[in-house]
Amino acid sequence: MIDSFPEDFRWGAATASYQIEGAATEDGRGASIWDTFSHTPGTTLAGDTGDVACDHYHRYREDVALMARLGLQDYRFSIAWPRVIPSGSGAVNEAGLDFYSRLVDELLANGIRPVATLYHWDLPQPLQDAGGWPARDTAERFAEYAAVVARRLGDRVAVFTTLNEPWCSAYLGYAAGEHAPGARDNAAALTAAYHLLLAHGRGLQALRSELTGEHTLSITLNPANIRPASDSDADRDAAYTADLYANRIFLDPLLRGSLPAALLERTERVTDWSFVRDGDLEVISAPIDVLGVNYYNPHRVGATPPPDGSRALFAGTDDVFHYPQDGPKTGMDWPVEPASMTELLVAMHRDYPGTAFVVTENGAAYPDTVAEDGAVHDPERVAYLAAHIGAVRDAIEAGVDVRGYYAWSLLDNFEWAWGYSQRFGIVHVDFDGDLRRRPKDSFEFYRRVIAANGVPDDVVH
Ligand code: FCB
Repeated sequence: MIDSFPEDFRWGAATASYQIEGAATEDGRGASIWDTFSHTPGTTLAGDTGDVACDHYHRYREDVALMARLGLQDYRFSIAWPRVIPSGSGAVNEAGLDFYSRLVDELLANGIRPVATLYHWDLPQPLQDAGGWPARDTAERFAEYAAVVARRLGDRVAVFTTLNEPWCSAYLGYAAGEHAPGARDNAAALTAAYHLLLAHGRGLQALRSELTGEHTLSITLNPANIRPASDSDADRDAAYTADLYANRIFLDPLLRGSLPAALLERTERVTDWSFVRDGDLEVISAPIDVLGVNYYNPHRVGATPPPDGSRALFAGTDDVFHYPQDGPKTGMDWPVEPASMTELLVAMHRDYPGTAFVVTENGAAYPDTVAEDGAVHDPERVAYLAAHIGAVRDAIEAGVDVRGYYAWSLLDNFEWAWGYSQRFGIVHVDFDGDLRRRPKDSFEFYRRVIAANGVPDDVVH
C-alpha cells in the first residue's frame, strides 16, 4: 500500500532560530547581523523583521505539542549564537542557554529527538563589526561557542550540525548583498566561504572534545543540481564554473581534504587564496557522520545573459547567468522538479562515495489562505512533498545512503529577505493576528507519511 522506507529512516521537520523565535531582545539576547540587516530600510520585503516572528520563544510548548501530534521523530532547530554568547565571544548568557535546555527537555518528554544546528545565519553583530566571516578569527569564536553549547546540551542532544548552508552565508551575505550583512564583494564572499569551512572544522573539534557518548555530527549544505542552458561549450563551461562555486568549494574540502585546483584558477582575478594556512584542510576534512542536504529546485546557467533580458548572475561569479526554466513553479518562483533531487543525490553518492546523507530541508512556499471552514487547504504543497519524498526513495533504491527526511518547515516563518510573504509551513501562522497555529492539509498528509513510513498510495504523486 505504500512506497516504504528503511525501518530506521528518520522523519523530521526543520526550523531556524531567527525565523521563528522572536523575543529578539529578551533574557539577554544580543543583536545578530539579521537584526541589524532587517532593521535597515530596503533590505526585506515590507520591512519585515524577526523581532516577533512566530513567538516560538514563548510558545515552544504549544509547538512541541503540535510536533507530537504529527508523530515527528526528529526536530531540527537552530540555536541563536547571540542568545548564548551575546557579544560573540567571552561571557555566556545562561538565560539564553536555559531556553534551549527547556526546549530540549520538552522534545525528549514527547519522544522527539532534538537535532541542533549551531549556526543558521544569526552571527552576533559584534563579530561582524570585527570583520565577520571574512575574518579568520570568527572561526575560532565559533569553536568557542560550539564548546559552550556542547557542555550544556550535549548530555541530551545526540545530533549536532555545525552550519546551515554556508553557501548562503558566504555568497548571499557577502557577494549578492541579499542576506545579512548585505555586502557586495566577491573576494570577501570566497574568503567567507573558506572561513565558514574552517569554523565547521574547528567547531567539530570542539564538539568532539566536549561530548561524551554517542553523537552524530554533521554539516548541512545546499548542493545545487546545475545544468547548462544549452549544449554549447560556453554554457557547459559556465555550468562547470557554477558547480565549483556552489558545490565543490564546500564538498571537496570537507570530503576530499582539498580545494579544487580549477576553483583556484578560475578565481585568480578575485583572490590569491593567501588566507589558506597549512593544516587547515586537515581540520576541515575531519570525518563527519552524515552530510545534511537541503534541496528545493534545480538550476540552469549560461555564459551569456538569457534572451528574456534578465541578467541575474550566479552569486559570487561575474560571468555565469541564471536561465529561466520551464514547468511548474512554487510561490518563490522556484521550479518544481523532483527527479532533479534524485539526480543530485545519486551524483553526490557517485562523486563522494561512502557519504551518508540526511535531507535536512525540503519544502515549498505557496500563498496559503484560511478557508471558510477554518482549514488551510494546500494541495500543491502536499503534491510537492509527496513527489520529493518519492524522489528520496528513488535515490535510496539507486543505492544512495539517505537516512532521513526533514520537511521545511514546521511553521510559516520569517523567510529572510522575503519577510512573511512566503509561507513554507505545514502549519499556518496568523501573522496579521494572534499568531494562531493552524495545521494545514499538508500537516495531516505528513502525519500519515510518518505513521506509514512512506507515502500512502491514495496520495497522488
Ligand atoms: C533555505 C534556508 C531556510 C529557508 C529555506 C526556504 O535556504 O536554510 O532557512 O529559508 O531555504
